Amino acid sequence: MEIREVAVVGMGTMGAGIAEVFARAGISVVAIDVDAQALSRGMAALDASLARAVSRGKLTSSEQAQLLGRVRAAAGFGDAAGADLAIEVVPERLEVKRQIFAELDRVCRPDAILASNTSSLSVTSIAAGTKNPGRVIGLHFFNPAPVMRLVEVVSTVLTADGLPGEIASLARRLSKTPVQVSDRAGFVANALLLPYLNHAASLFERGYATAEDIDVAATAGLGLPMGPLALLDLIGLDTSLSVLDVLHTEFGGSRYMPTPLLRRLTEAGRTGRKAGRGFYTYPAAPQTSDNGNEPAAVPATVTLVGLGDAAETELASMIAAAGLNVTRNTGHPTDLVVIAAAPERPVLPEALAAGRPGQAVGLHLAGSGLAEVVRTALSTEAAVAAADALASRLGLQAVHSPDRPGFLVGALLYPHLADAVRMVQDCYASAADVDTAMRLGCGYPQGPFHLLDKAGLRQALDVLRAMYAEYGDPAFAPPPLLAEHAVASLGFTSAP
Ligand code: 3HC
Repeated sequence: MEIREVAVVGMGTMGAGIAEVFARAGISVVAIDVDAQALSRGMAALDASLARAVSRGKLTSSEQAQLLGRVRAAAGFGDAAGADLAIEVVPERLEVKRQIFAELDRVCRPDAILASNTSSLSVTSIAAGTKNPGRVIGLHFFNPAPVMRLVEVVSTVLTADGLPGEIASLARRLSKTPVQVSDRAGFVANALLLPYLNHAASLFERGYATAEDIDVAATAGLGLPMGPLALLDLIGLDTSLSVLDVLHTEFGGSRYMPTPLLRRLTEAGRTGRKAGRGFYTYPAAPQTSDNGNEPAAVPATVTLVGLGDAAETELASMIAAAGLNVTRNTGHPTDLVVIAAAPERPVLPEALAAGRPGQAVGLHLAGSGLAEVVRTALSTEAAVAAADALASRLGLQAVHSPDRPGFLVGALLYPHLADAVRMVQDCYASAADVDTAMRLGCGYPQGPFHLLDKAGLRQALDVLRAMYAEYGDPAFAPPPLLAEHAVASLGFTSAP
C-alpha cells in the first residue's frame, strides 16, 4: 500500500520530530493530541525546527511553507480516519498505549497500518489487544527524530507476512535506515544504550567520578557525540527510567536495575533538558575554568615507571617532547611518579614498588587527547594536581579515576561491549545490525563491534575479568563468545 497520509498521535518532542520526518518525505500528516496545550507546543516545536533549518540555509522559505502545509493539527482521533498509517508516540505506559490503539481501531480503515514508537514495551501485547494484530508493528525512531537515521522495525509473532518489509521500504523513503528485529524489550539500540547510561549514572551517584569527567571520558575517550549524563538529559530521565524498568523486568540483573538517583531526580521533576534541569542545568551556565586554586606547577623532572610496553614508551616520548626530564630512577627525589597505567592492572602495587606511593599516580592515554589520571588510595592531592598540570602541558584533557579496573573510560566501555556481544551470542541481532543501530540511532562514530576490534579482544576480556573479580557482578563476566573470539584471534567485524 502506498502511504500518502499518516496520523501521528502524541505531539511531544518525539511526536513533533516524527511528524517533521513524514512531512519532509512529502507525506501528509495529521498531528493528533487530545491535550490542546501539548498539541500547540508540538506544532510550535515543529515550526521552530523548520525555522532553524531555514536559518541554517538547509531549507528554503517556500519549502518550509509547503512542509507546514502538509501538517494538519487535530484534537481528536476522528481525523485519523483517512490515514494509511497511524503511529502512536505517547508516554511509555501500556494501558495508555492500549487505549490509543482501541481508538485507532475504531476510527482507522481496516487496512490501515497501526504502528507504535514504543521504546521498550511489548509490541506483541499492544497488538494482541487490537482487532487486526497482523497490521500492528513497532516503528521506533531516535531522538532527535529528524536527525538520527535509524528506525527499528519491530515485528511480533502476530505481524502479517510482508508488513515488516513494507515498513522497511517506508523507512528508506523517509531517508532512514531500517534495522528489522523481533519483539524483545529495548530492541537493539535501547537494550544496549540504556544499561550503559544507567551504569554511568551509577558511577556518578557512587562518587566514582564527576559528571563532567564521565561525559568527557565518553566524548574525548570513546569519540561518542555526547556524554552519557548529557544524553540522559536529552532523552529525559523519566523516559530512561521507564525503559530501564521494562528492561529490568524482562532481563533482570544490575545493568538494567535503575540506579536510585535516576528515580529520585525523576521524582523531583528534574527530568532533563525539557524540565530545564537534570544532571545539568539548561541553558548551560557559562563555563569557567577558574576554580580559585592556583594551578599546580609542572614538575621539571618526572619519574616514569612502567612495564617497558608501548604505553610507557609513548608517555616517555611525550614527556620528553614537552621539554621535561624523565627519569626511571625511583630513588630520584622528584615530585611526581607517573605509573604508565593499563586498565586491566591496578596502579597501587606499582606505586608501592616504586617506594614513594604518595607521589605516585597512574596515567593512562585513552582515545584522542585524553589522559586518565588514576589516583590510588595513597596518592596525595599534590601529586594528583601535578599530574593534571603535566597532562595539560602534554596537551591532554585530564579526567580523574579511582584505581579500579577499567579506570573510567574502560569501566564505561567494556561492560557496554560485553552487552553487545551477549546480544549477538543470543542470536537476537547480527554484529553488523548492532553496529548500524548504534551508529545511526545514537550517533556512534563506530559501532560497538568496531570499537571492540579496535580496543582489542584480549584487552576487553582482561578488563572484564578484572571487573568481575573485583565486584563479583555477573554483568561484568565476559560472555563466552568474546572469550572464544579472543582465543581464536577472530575479530567481529572482519571475515573469518
Ligand atoms: N531537532 C532537530 N534537529 C536538530 C536537533 C533537534 N532537537 N538537534 C540538532 N539538530 C540538527 C541541527 O539543526 C544540525 O542540523 P544541520 O547539520 O542540518 O545544520 C544537526 O542536527 C547537528 O546539530 P548541532 O551541530 O547543533 O549539534 P551536534 O553536531 O552536536 O549534534 C546531535 C547533535 C545530533 C544530537 C548529536 O549530539 C548526537 O548524535 N547525539 C546522540 C543522540 C542520541 O544518542 N540519540 C538517541 C537517544 S535514544 C532514543 O532516542 C531512543 C528513545 O527510545 C529513548
